[in-house]
This record gives sequence, C-alpha cells and structure tokens, in this order.
Amino acid sequence: MKIFIDSGNLKEIESLVPLGIIDGITTNPTLLAKEGGDYRALLKQICGIVKGPTSAEVVATDADGMIRQGRELAKIDEHIVVKVPFTREGVRACRTLASEGLRVNVTLIFSPTQALFAAKVGAAYVSPFVGRLDDIATSGMGLVQEIVDIFENYQFSTEILVASVRHPMHIVEAARMGADICTCPAAVIEQAFKHPLTDIGLERFLKDWDKAGFKQ
Ligand code: E4P
Repeated sequence: MKIFIDSGNLKEIESLVPLGIIDGITTNPTLLAKEGGDYRALLKQICGIVKGPTSAEVVATDADGMIRQGRELAKIDEHIVVKVPFTREGVRACRTLASEGLRVNVTLIFSPTQALFAAKVGAAYVSPFVGRLDDIATSGMGLVQEIVDIFENYQFSTEILVASVRHPMHIVEAARMGADICTCPAAVIEQAFKHPLTDIGLERFLKDWDKAGFKQ
C-alpha cells in the first residue's frame, strides 16, 4: 500500500520524505490556506521534494470553472493530480479532465455509489473520507471495504485513496482491505513509528553492550 502525506506543510514533508516510505502528497484548500503565501509556488516545491502524485484541489463549483482551474493546476508540475469534489459538476469536470489525459482525484467520497460514478468517468483516484464518517458514528472503513469489493468486481483501474485518516488503526485496516493508498497527517505517521517495546528493547541492547566494555 502506498503512503501519502496529507499536508501542505514543507517542514512535515521534508522530514518524512527522506525516510523512503512516502509515495505522494494530498493537499486540500484548508491545508493550503493554513500555509498561506503563494500556493502555486508551494505546490511546485512539494512536487520537487516528493516527486510523486501531489493532489491540488479546484475551488470552482461549476464544471467549466473546475476544468479551467484543473488545467491551470496541472501546468504547475507533471506530478500534480487535479482534485475535484464529488458533485454533479465535479463528475462532469472529471470526465473532461481525464479525457485530456490529466489524473483526477475525486474527493469528498462518502458512499459507494459516489466512488462507482467517479470510477466510471475515469478518476485516477477516489478519496473516501473515513474519519469524517467515523465522526458521525458511521463506519468509514466499512465504506472502504464496499468500494474495494465493487472495484474488484469490475476491474476498475481507479485507485482507492483512503483519506481523513485519524490514527494508525486506519492505516492497518486500509492495508488489510487492500486499499491502494492511505493518506495520513504527519502526526499519524509519527504515531505509527512508535512502539514502547522497541524503545525499551533498544535501550536494553545498548546498556548490555556498554556493560560488556567491548573496544570499538
Ligand atoms: C484528503 O485528501 C483530505 O485532504 C483529508 O484527508 C481530509 O481530512 P480531514 O477530515 O482530517 O480534514
């Protein structure tokens, strides 16, 4: 399973990419607004660091506006993936942008039919938002399983990008279900690195080694 960072923050991206486990980035209007400044320059920098798919979202709500913005975003860098919301207009825009060879991530997916429709119009990625469903007492990972089942039935090439991830168990469940990608806030990736038994084990190994007094 590919791991993306769900962030527009350069510091977070620069600290995680060198580890070699990061395959791409997702941003959204909220994440880029948090960073401020020139969002195009920021996206260009992010693409240069990760050198992998980097989602940048349109903010127009009509199909023509989304198509215009999508084409402009795609010009920023070859790694840009145009993100459009799942609406009727978004589906129309996805169809056009995909037919032009641009990769489209259809976002704000909260039902299996939305994922199916997005796949039918050539979305490269669908983004089910698991955390936001969990927030309203509906199983986010249940939705991912439904999409996995549907996509397997019809051999869609659309990748399932698990989004709105809140904790490492979402990563585990996504991987067990065979989702293609899990996009995680940097803090969740940091959490997934930690295990107290690893820390205790390492401390003990180093202490024992020191006690033996070997010459280096
Ligand atoms: C995905 O592409 C979105 O940017 C993101 O995962 C939304 O997550 P949130 O529900 O934590 O805002």
